[in-house]
Amino acid sequence: MRMKMKMKMRMRIPVACSSSSSSSSSVATVKEESSGSTGSAYVAGSTGRTGQRVVRELVDAGLKVKAGVRSSDKFRDTFDEILSSQDKATRLSYEMTSLEDAESLERGVSGADVVVCCLGAPEDEFNFDNPRRIDGDGTIALIDAAKASGTVEHFILVTSLGTGRFGWPASILNLFFGVLHHKRRAEEHLLASGLRYTIVRPGGMERPTDDYYKEHKMVVKGEDTQFGGQVSRTQVSWCVKECVLNPAVCENKVLELVTKEINPGKKKDEAKAFEEYDTSVIDQITKIKSAGDPTVVGSPAWYTAKYAYTPSKLDALVRAMGFKGTAPEVVNGRLAMLALVAGLGEELVSGKPIGQQVVDQYFGIALTIAAVTSGSLVPLVKGVEVKHADLGPFKSVAEKLNGRVAMLAFSYLALGESFGEKRLAIDAVKASFAEVTGVLASLDFKAILFGSAIFLLLGLTTSLATLAPIQLLLGGDDGGEEEAS
Ligand SMILES: NC(=O)c1ccc[n+]([C@@H]2O[C@H](COP(=O)([O-])OP(=O)(O)OC[C@H]3O[C@@H](n4cnc5c(N)ncnc54)[C@H](OP(=O)(O)O)[C@@H]3O)[C@@H](O)[C@H]2O)c1
Repeated sequence: MRMKMKMKMRMRIPVACSSSSSSSSSVATVKEESSGSTGSAYVAGSTGRTGQRVVRELVDAGLKVKAGVRSSDKFRDTFDEILSSQDKATRLSYEMTSLEDAESLERGVSGADVVVCCLGAPEDEFNFDNPRRIDGDGTIALIDAAKASGTVEHFILVTSLGTGRFGWPASILNLFFGVLHHKRRAEEHLLASGLRYTIVRPGGMERPTDDYYKEHKMVVKGEDTQFGGQVSRTQVSWCVKECVLNPAVCENKVLELVTKEINPGKKKDEAKAFEEYDTSVIDQITKIKSAGDPTVVGSPAWYTAKYAYTPSKLDALVRAMGFKGTAPEVVNGRLAMLALVAGLGEELVSGKPIGQQVVDQYFGIALTIAAVTSGSLVPLVKGVEVKHADLGPFKSVAEKLNGRVAMLAFSYLALGESFGEKRLAIDAVKASFAEVTGVLASLDFKAILFGSAIFLLLGLTTSLATLAPIQLLLGGDDGGEEEAS
């Protein structure tokens, strides 16, 4: 494990937990050390799944850690291993805190150099107010306590990928009572606090297990660059540890954490580089640009923030609706897909032509058009493109293609009802379907399969016959070289 960066060596007053909870703790006193003091950290949400991994990493790294907890029993159960190690137990204490009790938060952060916040609304608790209370207001109260402490110099906030954005995964996660909106409120409060900050935004952490890193290398990127991906809580704790140990490298940065699968061809070599720990993380963080400190008047970041061009909503709307904008096609395509399915469905059930449906249900149709149009325009005006919402097999290109096909089909069928044969759209679809099945039935599949096989075989032999002499001329394959290296 690489520990090349040293925490700044600051002698601290002993961090004696002052609450009744801590005094009742059998493990909780951090003693002043005459030498080798490596700074102290307060971890909020420390008995959570990410928080506990962060605490373990920091204690292992030699830091004094104060764990912010809601239950002393849970603290003891979670950190049983550390508490039974004579050496490590002296570096771990706890403070009972409540996010609604400012004094408990002040006690928690008092004396700490760095605060790590791993708080998060419990996902299994159905309480619509939790994200506001915990990810928003509670985290903001913790930031205020850190600011007021006078000792905290660095605040590391774990939030989530997609914070403050639309598109995947934000649109899905925001369904969880606006959790990303509240996380963004906390991020903005931290940015404005004047504290040195690092915001860590992990991708999905539910599925990756602790040894996920063996197959997946952590990828650390800058603000608003990642739209999906996964990372394990262990990997997140490694990144947080690097931030704690290397404040100068990590300060005032937003880090987005995902992973990439290790190339199976190179797996052995690549995996070797981080068998126990990902040593590339700090190098990756180093490459990410710091925002500077926008609260320092006259600093580059201050000028950037002050004079940055932020397009007005009207500018954004005009851009989205313009000739090169994506809005018209997106809106028309979505409406056409909806109209096609709804119109044909209604014709199938009631036999009412599309024109008549419009006359009968104009109010509902107008409402649907308004809802689809505004639902599509809002993210586009906020600068989020449709491709940002790619999710698994649901690709934006597929939506574009389906939208175009639907626009053409809808126009053709609707016009067909008014002119020419004047038959119902559903009848036209049925007739086309019958024609296609008729053609398919008349095909000789055996002959087609036989023809395709001959065609493929000929293609393959021709390519091999062409490639072999070229490879020979170029000096043979490099398989031997690879083996040698
Ligand atoms: N799950 C994901 O895939 C995912 C992805 C990206 C980001 N995130 C974010 O990453 C962070 C850590 O996630 P996680 O999975 O480690 O969360 P977790 O296991 O649910 O831990 C949440 C922590 O917050 C504490 N907490 C909850 N309500 C509290 C309250 N009212 N007062 C004080 N403390 C409270 C919990 O305390 P107790 O231990 O006492 O319960 C726990 O320590 C969260 O902000 C989460 O939203 C999660």
